[in-house]
Amino acid sequence: MSDAEKVHKAMADYYDTLDDWSFTGLWTMDYSKLVMDEEFRAANKYLHPTHQKEDAGACNMSPGLMEGLKLVDIGCAQGRDAFICSKMVGEKGHVIGIDISGNRIQQSNDFKKYHKDSMGYKKSNCEFYEGSVTDLKPFGLKDQSQDMVVSSGVVCLVPDKEEAYREAYRVLKYGGEFHQHDCTTSQRLIKSVENEPKLWAEGMSTLCYWDNIAMLKRIGFTTPRHVYTTPYVWSCPDPIKKDKFGTTDVRFLAVQMRMFKLPPGAVQKAQRATYNGGIPYNQRQFQFDSQTLFKKGIPMAVDGELAAILEHSRFAPYFTLSPLQKGDIIQTDTATYDVFANAPH
Ligand SMILES: C[S@@+](CC[C@H](N)C(=O)[O-])C[C@H]1O[C@@H](n2cnc3c(N)ncnc32)[C@H](O)[C@@H]1O
Repeated sequence: MSDAEKVHKAMADYYDTLDDWSFTGLWTMDYSKLVMDEEFRAANKYLHPTHQKEDAGACNMSPGLMEGLKLVDIGCAQGRDAFICSKMVGEKGHVIGIDISGNRIQQSNDFKKYHKDSMGYKKSNCEFYEGSVTDLKPFGLKDQSQDMVVSSGVVCLVPDKEEAYREAYRVLKYGGEFHQHDCTTSQRLIKSVENEPKLWAEGMSTLCYWDNIAMLKRIGFTTPRHVYTTPYVWSCPDPIKKDKFGTTDVRFLAVQMRMFKLPPGAVQKAQRATYNGGIPYNQRQFQFDSQTLFKKGIPMAVDGELAAILEHSRFAPYFTLSPLQKGDIIQTDTATYDVFANAPH
């Protein structure tokens, strides 16, 4: 068995038997910081009470405009986000959930009928499969077949992170979105973190934020745009932190990001973008990411990459692009936004 296979196996065992989501020990999430946007709240009402209570993933901001999409939730566990997406994509949309834990997939399947009925669908629009996010081919997931990939708190658990990201990229259609929520750190960690199974299983063996962005861009995604952040709160004393991570200074955040797969050769030219309204739950304004708020009818100068996203993604019908005018100040992309600026040590 390769080292990566050993971690996959350990992860499947860990999540097969974990019976609640209260990770104990080194850290906790700052749940007081969690918010749920209106669209998410509306979908959440259809979930089984046990799923409504889950907030370990803590990804409660909807990507928006999902009606009719085909998507994959990589690392779906017992299906909380997949069922939220099931409501958001509607009966004509489709959701595939993949998880390495057989027990979690069994639970997801057990909840399919409840959610089909609560959402009033004739037939469930969800399928769940046991497998690794690093290889989606066994589930018939062809190149460029999906409108969206979502993932919450999973890639931080995967040793071969680049393979996981490449699979997400492969299955996305051009113009499709990868909406990811994952643990990330303010600096590189010492190698020994990777030798501790418990640290792996709790998502601490993760990538430094800027390394993660570089990897995603190398694969071909647009610059990951920051949507939302939840800080970790440390419950272990400094000497333990130093021993585990090599420093007491490192900060961990759960970061929600959105990135897109643009068509080859898509022109990236800064333009004015005007939101025309019409996106459900976002009629007067549309918060594209934490730094970019479009107000209906008000032109905003956007960088070339965002202009290309608006032109080629599902958002295209809701925006008018026009040439820049003298004096326009272009929104900077969010890769330079320091998500760690206010994060607790
Ligand atoms: C922290 S939980 C998050 C679950 C869910 N996305 C949420 O937000 O509630 C991590 C999940 O990732 C799964 N996982 C870990 N490594 C995986 C891999 N290589 N492939 C598929 N799933 C994996 C685990 O089994 C577990 O269910």
